[in-house]
Amino acid sequence: MALEISPVKKGEKVRFKNPGKRFYDAIGGEEGMRKLMYNFYDKIYESDIAHFFPQDEEEFQKVKEKNSKFFIQICGGPKIYEDEAKGMNLNEYMIRIHDDFSINEKARIEWLGTMREALDEVKDVDEEIKKEFWDYLDQFSKLTVNSFSDGSEYYASYTQAQEEKSAN
Ligand code: HEM
Repeated sequence: MALEISPVKKGEKVRFKNPGKRFYDAIGGEEGMRKLMYNFYDKIYESDIAHFFPQDEEEFQKVKEKNSKFFIQICGGPKIYEDEAKGMNLNEYMIRIHDDFSINEKARIEWLGTMREALDEVKDVDEEIKKEFWDYLDQFSKLTVNSFSDGSEYYASYTQAQEEKSAN
């Protein structure tokens, strides 16, 4: 089953569903998720979008850990990212965090491609379960794109998204 990247369209409503707990359980809970995300961030460091991220090792380490906590919570694990979001819906907060950076479609594709590589290295999770996680990433990442090839900028507010009920 191929994990495909669908194109972003400026201003288009994005429909996404938080990943079901099936993925979280299959990857091995907190420990497995941390392993995946640390591996992903190590690859990010070597990628074309490395310059977006802190170059200072200690700061980079902090983002790595925050990122892991977010994914643990959004996938149905313990609520360990909650405090960071200052009471906001987690996805809404995530859109805001990314608005501090100029992210275009090319950067999104590099981010998703890097995540796909990290997911490919997870050998003991069914492709169908990975696909469920992937669909969230493919869709949600569209809301992080705020710079377009025509030179315009566009902040997708949370109202631009339609969060569907997940099983969690
Ligand atoms: C599904 C899509 C994405 C999700 C769920 C996601 C999630 C996250 C999380 C949880 C953090 C850490 C936030 C914190 O500080 O507490 C983060 C930071 C960041 N992400 Fe994303 N991200 C996504 C897509 C992208 C894309 C496409 C880019 C493109 C470059 C990107 C660039 C960054 C940057 C630059 C930071 C901040 C680094 C810093 O604090 O200096 N992200 N992201």
